[in-house]
Amino acid sequence: MPTAIVFGATSGIGKQLAEFLIADGYNVIITGRRSDNLSQLKHKYPASVRSDKLNVQDVKRTAQLFEQWIQEFSQIDLILHCAGIGYENPELDWTKEQDTIKTNVEAAAHIYDLAFNLFKAQGFGHLVSISSIASLRGNRHSPAYFASKAFQVNYLESLYFKSKEIKGGRIYITDVRPGYVDTRMALGNDKFWMSKLNKASKQIYSAIKRKKRKVYITKRWLLIAWVLKIVPSWLIKKVM
Ligand SMILES: NC(=O)c1ccc[n+]([C@@H]2O[C@H](COP(=O)([O-])OP(=O)(O)OC[C@H]3O[C@@H](n4cnc5c(N)ncnc54)[C@H](OP(=O)(O)O)[C@@H]3O)[C@@H](O)[C@H]2O)c1
Repeated sequence: MPTAIVFGATSGIGKQLAEFLIADGYNVIITGRRSDNLSQLKHKYPASVRSDKLNVQDVKRTAQLFEQWIQEFSQIDLILHCAGIGYENPELDWTKEQDTIKTNVEAAAHIYDLAFNLFKAQGFGHLVSISSIASLRGNRHSPAYFASKAFQVNYLESLYFKSKEIKGGRIYITDVRPGYVDTRMALGNDKFWMSKLNKASKQIYSAIKRKKRKVYITKRWLLIAWVLKIVPSWLIKKVM
């Protein structure tokens, strides 16, 4: 039975992907801070799920648990990084900016490194992280969130380049860049093209199975990405 770890499986995209994996016969290790949500999933699928309460900002505990999981399952095929946070923060409240940086930057990089080093030792493995369309430009309402997503995208690309150091070519890195998805993380007032969670998760799962390098979710957000990449800063400053 293949084994997957899902960081951030207590709600939203991570929870939905965990359920897809269970349906496909994976052992799934689920994590998050809300123990009630973890217990619900564990009780629903007792034979397939191991759950561990974890705040990913606690890097020491993350590393300890990671070691335990390797001991218990001996190999990990897939690691899904869905643990993320973000705020509308026009006042630049430092507590919110710092929380975002600790979760989306420091903890994310820590998880990416744990995953990569494990895959290097195993000779195979697939790391998937949910970044965002927000990675492409800055934003005056949520600077830390948008910058953190750019960090994730560049880190993931670096690991993709780095995977050439590992013989056999069986290490895959998938960067998932959603637009608006109907979860508590859909930030902003004008949530256009908001996707239902199930539709977005199905597209993400399909990209994971195809081991895509990067993917926009839903597909139509590729168009927005294309525009965002060419539109000048002065125009964004004027209209957004
Ligand atoms: N929804 C959107 O419109 C959208 C668009 C682009 C990108 N994304 C990205 O998609 C990812 C998943 O978000 P979602 O939309 O599925 O929202 P969500 O339902 O809020 O899921 C976020 C997950 O991250 C976990 N998490 C947050 N902080 C954590 C921490 N310190 N330690 C451990 N787990 C933590 C949450 O678990 P606990 O709260 O239980 O800890 C939860 O399971 C995020 O990275 C988000 O930035 C979402």
